[in-house]
Amino acid sequence: MNNPTYDFKDQVALVTGAGSGMGLVTAQAFAEAGAAVVLADINEGAVGTATDELTATGHQALGVTCDVADEAQAAAMVQRAVAAFGRLDMAFNKAGVQVPPSDAADETAGNFDRVNAINLRGVWASMKHELRQMREQGSGAIVNCSSLGGLVGLPGRASYHASKHGVIGLTKSAALEYAPRGVRINAVCPGTIDTPMVADMLDTQPDATKEIMRDQPIGRLGRSHEIAAAVLWLCSPGASFVIGVPSRSTAASPLIDLSRASWEVSTPLARNDPQTHRKREVVQHARNHHARRRRRSYRDRPGRPPDRVDRRRGPSDPRLRLRQRSVAVRVDGAQ
Ligand SMILES: NC(=O)c1ccc[n+]([C@@H]2O[C@H](COP(=O)([O-])OP(=O)(O)OC[C@H]3O[C@@H](n4cnc5c(N)ncnc54)[C@H](O)[C@@H]3O)[C@@H](O)[C@H]2O)c1
Repeated sequence: MNNPTYDFKDQVALVTGAGSGMGLVTAQAFAEAGAAVVLADINEGAVGTATDELTATGHQALGVTCDVADEAQAAAMVQRAVAAFGRLDMAFNKAGVQVPPSDAADETAGNFDRVNAINLRGVWASMKHELRQMREQGSGAIVNCSSLGGLVGLPGRASYHASKHGVIGLTKSAALEYAPRGVRINAVCPGTIDTPMVADMLDTQPDATKEIMRDQPIGRLGRSHEIAAAVLWLCSPGASFVIGVPSRSTAASPLIDLSRASWEVSTPLARNDPQTHRKREVVQHARNHHARRRRRSYRDRPGRPPDRVDRRRGPSDPRLRLRQRSVAVRVDGAQ
């Protein structure tokens, strides 16, 4: 079976952190699918090389040196993209860093500020200025890079995980705000992907390899093109009804459950959706059914646990009512 192919001809994609790893591979995939691509990264050399490689093979590409933690630079990045290509249709906000693991009681403010400035504030600033352009156009698709660390906790990783949980909060709220305006916003939550960031981590923390592999049901690390595939799909018309989803692009979690995620996040919008009501009815029906079965199975069991007591009407089981009355008589008699 072939992978899906996309046609993003006449569309413009922006990728932050495009100098390396998942950002680089995603920028290349957008270009292969026909989009004009803006590659942004703080590393001028890396972004220059990546851009030159794309233009040398006939693609439309623009390299922008940008520190996403600085809002003015994020704004200028979007302005340059629009000045060069006239519009902005898709964005993958992936620039980010790790900080070394630390006991939560010993974490330095410097580490906390750095990881949140790039991973969370950087996504906020990029998304804010992308939205200004997309709001004007009335269309667009944004994918923010969270992490498996945005969905779960891990000892020693509080600051990094805080930044990634924050990205999911930004994504879900902005997605609900912008869905009616034609802009879809989602997030990817990669597990451990074989990129230079992870290679650095494994070099400096040899024990981490065993720990990471223990949690990989597929028995290997993920690959950047596997994340690019999720990003391209989320930007494509195939995902035209998907918003606010923190998509678990990870082998570390067996629960790839897009329907549940969209169910959770779409609740405020879906109040009048007949399908939503149907789901609620089904859940309520199942609850009632199990409650009836529990009551039935207790009823005929000797030594069953005491029945629930209604304060005004007394216990529903007549034997309990009797016992209660006899206690009352004894007490009365003692008086
Ligand atoms: N690799 C993984 O296992 C994994 C898993 C989940 C999430 N992530 C997320 O992916 C991102 C890292 O990407 P990667 O794994 O491809 O690693 P990577 O190190 O290859 O790429 C990160 C890129 O971001 C750039 N960058 C760093 N700070 C920047 C800034 N302030 N402004 C602009 N660009 C900046 C770097 O120069 C680099 O090119 C992080 O946000 C990380 O949380 C990675």
